[in-house]
Parts: sequence; C-alpha cells; structure tokens
Amino acid sequence: MSVRRLSPNQPESFAFSPETLKLAKWWIDKFPPGRQRSAVIPLLWLVQKQEGWVSEPAIRAIAEMLDMAQIRVLEVATFYTMFMLEPVGSKALVQVCGTTPCMLRGSNELMAVCKKKLGPKDHLSADGKFYWQEVECMGACANAPMAAINDYYYEDLTAESFEALLDDFAAGKSPKPGSAIKRQGSAPEGGPQALTDPKLYDGSRSKAIKKLPNAEPKPKAKKEPAA
Ligand code: FES
Repeated sequence: MSVRRLSPNQPESFAFSPETLKLAKWWIDKFPPGRQRSAVIPLLWLVQKQEGWVSEPAIRAIAEMLDMAQIRVLEVATFYTMFMLEPVGSKALVQVCGTTPCMLRGSNELMAVCKKKLGPKDHLSADGKFYWQEVECMGACANAPMAAINDYYYEDLTAESFEALLDDFAAGKSPKPGSAIKRQGSAPEGGPQALTDPKLYDGSRSKAIKKLPNAEPKPKAKKEPAA
C-alpha cells in the first residue's frame, strides 16, 4: 500500500466555483440535518473535478462547509486513491492498468510509452501537460490492455495506438473513448461468435413450442360411499 501524502507545493487558498458550490449544496441537501458529513466524498470529488486535484486549502474549505474536523477530511482524501493529492497535467491524467490480464496483453509496452513521452510515473510531465500512474484492475480486462485518461476508458491499445492517443491529447483533441479496434462492448474480436442466430431473438422459437400432452392421466375422483 502506498503512502499518500499531500503535495509539498500548496496554493495559498481555495475557492469553490459557483458551479461546484451549487452541486455541493445539492449533495449536502441529500442527507438529513446533522448528517451533512456524509457528503464528504462527493465534495472531495467535486473539488477534484474543479481543480484537477485536492489541495490542503480545499480540504480546509470542505471541513468548514461540512462542519467537520479537518483531520477527518484529510483522512478520507488520503485513504482513497481516486483523489489526487498533487497537481496533475493540464491536458490529461493517464492511468495505465498494470494488473495481470492487462500485463499479459501488453501494458508494459504502454508504460514504456508513458516513460518515453511523459517521464517517470507519479510525476508531472516536464511540460506540465500530463501526469501518469500505474493502477490496479479497472474492470475492463476483456479489452486489455487499457488505460483511463481523464474520465474515459481507452481499450485494446497497442504501443502505437496509445502513442497516437497521447499526441491527440497533447494537441488539445478529445479522442473517442472505447475500443481502439472497434470491438463491440466486450464481445470477442471481430464480433459476437456465439448465440448469433437471429431466430433466437425474434420470438419464433417460443411460438413453435407446442403444449406437451399430460404424461399421466388424471386420477378419477373416488365416489363417496353411500351412507
Ligand atoms: Fe486491466 Fe482488469 S486487468 S482492467
């Protein structure tokens, strides 16, 4: 387990944007009076969406908004790895999956691309545009290897397609997420290969099933003996 600490380089202050403030109030109102602390994770997430990361002044602002001890907010922010505790790139936060299925399908090559183009992991790139890290399974193993970039998954990557993807982000483009080989969902490459008969889905099979005759005749009801 990694040690997660706040960045030594902190901004002087933090201010909620009007948009973030509106969403924060919406989250807080979802909880009963006195339970507003339950909104701490959504608020940390909103702050991260606003700033790209969670700073120490932002943690203080959230604690004040939720009437919580600052240390409690800090505990949550440092526990969950989804919260970035130092500035990330202005263009993209790149998270490459390094767990076994992705590793077997080439995630090491993707990480080599990151090292070559963006520098060492867990650091801001020299131009300040990117930050990359290795993460554990993100649940898209069928389309391995994959990487999450900002809010979306990019799957079925190769070193070449991944490099092109990073170039697009650097150029300010928004590449289409999903499978790089146009795989349908997580179906096999080339499309589904089982249960492909259209008759399975048009209802014709169920109409064709006839009622089976009763296997055994119903027993005759016994007559009541005459009194
Ligand atoms: Fe990479 Fe599951 S192993 S997404």
